[in-house]
Amino acid sequence: MRGAVATLTLNRPKALNALSPELMDELVAAIARCDADESIRVLILTGGPKAFAAGADIKAMSQSTPMKMLTSEIIAKWDRVRDCRKPIIAAVSGYALGGGCELAMMCDIIIASDTAKFGQPEITIGVIPGAGGTQRLTRAIGPYRAMELILTGDMISAQEAASYGLVSRVYPADELMAAAQAMAEKIAARPPLAVRMAKDAVRYAAETTVREGLEIEKRNFYLLFDTYDQKEGMAAFAEKRKPEFRGE
Ligand code: HXC
Repeated sequence: MRGAVATLTLNRPKALNALSPELMDELVAAIARCDADESIRVLILTGGPKAFAAGADIKAMSQSTPMKMLTSEIIAKWDRVRDCRKPIIAAVSGYALGGGCELAMMCDIIIASDTAKFGQPEITIGVIPGAGGTQRLTRAIGPYRAMELILTGDMISAQEAASYGLVSRVYPADELMAAAQAMAEKIAARPPLAVRMAKDAVRYAAETTVREGLEIEKRNFYLLFDTYDQKEGMAAFAEKRKPEFRGE
């Protein structure tokens, strides 16, 4: 942790950070701890230089059955990443494939190094994306590009991912983590209740209809007028000074 920013690093390099049930349990627990810790405002999720994550663990999954998957809540567990109320920046180097790409898409911002490769190769092993890929990738890059990636299993480079709108910025590999930290600190300095309401509202844009999303946006906008930081932010603007936010 540095400042109000916690960095979580996937660290199973021998298996290219394949997301085994154990690794996902640890990750979900770490995210929940950060979410509950008042001193943390923003999370960075990253992997190693060769892989952010090369997908769900194929070896752990290969002999599974529908009932085993259902009862172990394998994918429901992944959904808990998305329950985090604080912003998560995915800082991706190397492979972000299958569940790795889906995990990045559960985060709120994706930045990448120029070594990153994104893809949904599940089709090549006889399945389809199962942790949101068919939905989130389609919303992120459009149905025709998503269909091509999901049906061919091809990978795209960081630059292509940026031109598709999946990745917001691309950096040289050795600059990625400093850039992630700087972006996280910038967000951490914003009024936290407004950050939380903004994340919540933007999430609705990706997950519901425009009509429902507009209702949530309006509700969250109104709610912020009940905060100290709104009064302070607007007063500071009028008085031409820097606001002192309190997170209340
Ligand atoms: C288990 C994996 C793995 C994975 C890599 N490894 N990806 N193990 N699950 N998803 C292991 C390899 O078996 C190997 O272990 C070691 O990591 C290094 O991988 P290599 O293949 O030797 O490396 P390389 O030749 O550089 O190729 C890299 C790669 C390739 C192109 C990324 O590993 C690959 O295609 N991986 C699978 C990608 C994939 O299909 N992902 C989707 C999974 S399904 P050993 O012991 O042999 O050294 C999915 C569904 C999600 O994600 C649904 C939600 C639950």
